[in-house]
Amino acid sequence: MADSWEDQAEVPPSSTSAPQPKSTPAPKLGLNPNASTFAFNPTASSFNPGSFAPSKPVSPQPPAQPATTAPHPSAAAAQNGDVTTSADTHMTDAVEAASSSGADQAAADMSSLSMSDAQLAHARQSSSAHTTAPDRPAPHTASVQPAAMAADAAAEEDDEMDEEEGHRQDEMQRIQTQLDKADNREHMNVVFIGHVDAGKSTTGGQILYLTGGVDERTIQKYEKEAKDKNRESWYMAYIMDTNEEERAKGKTVEVGRALFTTEKKRYTILDAPGHKNYVPNMIAGAAQADVGVLVVAARKGEFETGFERGGQTREHAQLAKTLGVAKLVIAINKMDDPSIAGPSGEWSKERYDEIIARITPFLRNNCGYHPKKDIIFLPMSGLMGTNIKDPPPKHICSWYTGGTLFEVLDNVDPFPRDPLKPFRMSIIDKYKDMGTIAMGKSESGMISKGDALYVMPNKVPVSVTTIYRDDAEVEAAKGGENLRIRLTGIEDTEISAGFVLCSRQRLVPTVTFFQAQLQILDLLEHKAVFTAGYKAILHIHSLVEECEITQLIGQVDLKAKAQGRDSTHPVKFVKGNSVVLVRIDVEKPICVERFDHVAQLGRFTLRDEGRTIAIGKITKLPKSLKEAA
Ligand code: GTP
Ligand code: MG
Repeated sequence: MADSWEDQAEVPPSSTSAPQPKSTPAPKLGLNPNASTFAFNPTASSFNPGSFAPSKPVSPQPPAQPATTAPHPSAAAAQNGDVTTSADTHMTDAVEAASSSGADQAAADMSSLSMSDAQLAHARQSSSAHTTAPDRPAPHTASVQPAAMAADAAAEEDDEMDEEEGHRQDEMQRIQTQLDKADNREHMNVVFIGHVDAGKSTTGGQILYLTGGVDERTIQKYEKEAKDKNRESWYMAYIMDTNEEERAKGKTVEVGRALFTTEKKRYTILDAPGHKNYVPNMIAGAAQADVGVLVVAARKGEFETGFERGGQTREHAQLAKTLGVAKLVIAINKMDDPSIAGPSGEWSKERYDEIIARITPFLRNNCGYHPKKDIIFLPMSGLMGTNIKDPPPKHICSWYTGGTLFEVLDNVDPFPRDPLKPFRMSIIDKYKDMGTIAMGKSESGMISKGDALYVMPNKVPVSVTTIYRDDAEVEAAKGGENLRIRLTGIEDTEISAGFVLCSRQRLVPTVTFFQAQLQILDLLEHKAVFTAGYKAILHIHSLVEECEITQLIGQVDLKAKAQGRDSTHPVKFVKGNSVVLVRIDVEKPICVERFDHVAQLGRFTLRDEGRTIAIGKITKLPKSLKEAA
């Protein structure tokens, strides 16, 4: 098996300006994307397909007013009570790739691409004649050439590369000019996570209210509706919780989505459900976010319940880190609650400090967040709207000076995104609208109108005809944006959640197995031993697949690893809370990346019977991925 792995770390790093010839016609394969070999089943698990349901389209979203210029809710900004929200996980995220250059991957892709593509095409064609769609061009086989021609070809290739690089630079310039015409404020996806009832939806609703996304009349309507349902205090949450079930039960089910802006940034709020039954939906939401707001209820007894073993404060924080949420704002909410506030409503510094003291070691030791660099604490009242846009009045809180929620979010450093990386967008949903619309979040690279791309793993050649960024049409978009892209060359039925829209020159790897480092969490009581043969549900970017641990390569000693010593020891099995190196197999080809190339496509969670049992990152991919496919 050793030789079937591609150790991509050995690929010499290439410059970030590696050529990416957008205009060069890419090899096209005669693959039928409808071929049964790619019958992806995104519902083959405990995953709740509702979160991707196209039946709940994104509501029209009027632009929220900049927070700083909208001191009061603007009636004009609200549309007859419709607010800028929709309970959908329509957009997928990517946090910018890990520190290593994506060009490495490009080089790796480029070096192995042509041969394996040809082989893939060949394998597909010979295995099933009907997989060749009549309207697709013939498979590309030109790279399988006699050795004598290789030197000439290499020289020619060098010239082509230079030419392509020049072209790429021009192309970049053109895209940048287009980008400059659009709203150039940085965009950030913020996911609200935390235990059930912590106040996530209330805070999301309050943010919209404070930024003019909801008017007074709507609030009054919600107040009445909430009262009728005996849920008086939930009226603010109704702004985010839009469906009947959510309102009746007072619990978010699907990830709510809404937009707001400050002077500095454009934000998408992703309001995740806190209930443990809906963790898969929370995963889908967090996977789209750059920053998380972990809402923790300070109310007496409520923090304790949420932070117990099995409480969602813990699980959400761990998942967030794995899913690429690099920074976490810990919003210590409900500071106004009479169980902890003083007689005149003063916020309790003791309670605030107590929660920080209890939660910090967990975030550091069990989640991997660096307390100084990655975590910011903040006291807040989502219900009262205190310390969200404006600081708390001194008589309520004189001891906190760290900035409001908006200030804290505005000051989170922009994520370094290299526009020259190959384009990647994990598709979370699709629908028909004058063509095929693929929805997702651009994870790396840039995209512009007219681009020729592939939808992987089926390698369907498509062209980009329209790009919508947060519902507004744009000419081009960079990484980290929520996009809807109109494509030609593909039917909506040919796309499933978890497919990846990618650059034609630098394909996203397509595999049926990979090597990964797993951090095993608490295992199920009746499956307390983890060994080869363990089956689980793999959640990776917007993809959900059944998988099997086919090999337990060894247990990892992280201390030894950090010291550069031999760190992996063979074992037959491990128990919970250990770190292991494993091989994971899935039945059908999936698109993933090595964690250190594109982190968002290389980190995952394993769930079993509704519980997260492990978090992991991909360390190695098979050598010839397309052969595996
Ligand atoms: P799930 O969606 O079920 O995970 O809950 P959630 O975190 O979205 O909580 P939600 O916003 O629905 O609020 C739950 C309850 O807490 C409601 O009764 C809110 O009024 C109340 N609540 C939220 N924020 C505050 C706050 O700042 N102070 C007080 N006193 N109550 C709050
Ligand atoms: Mg909620």
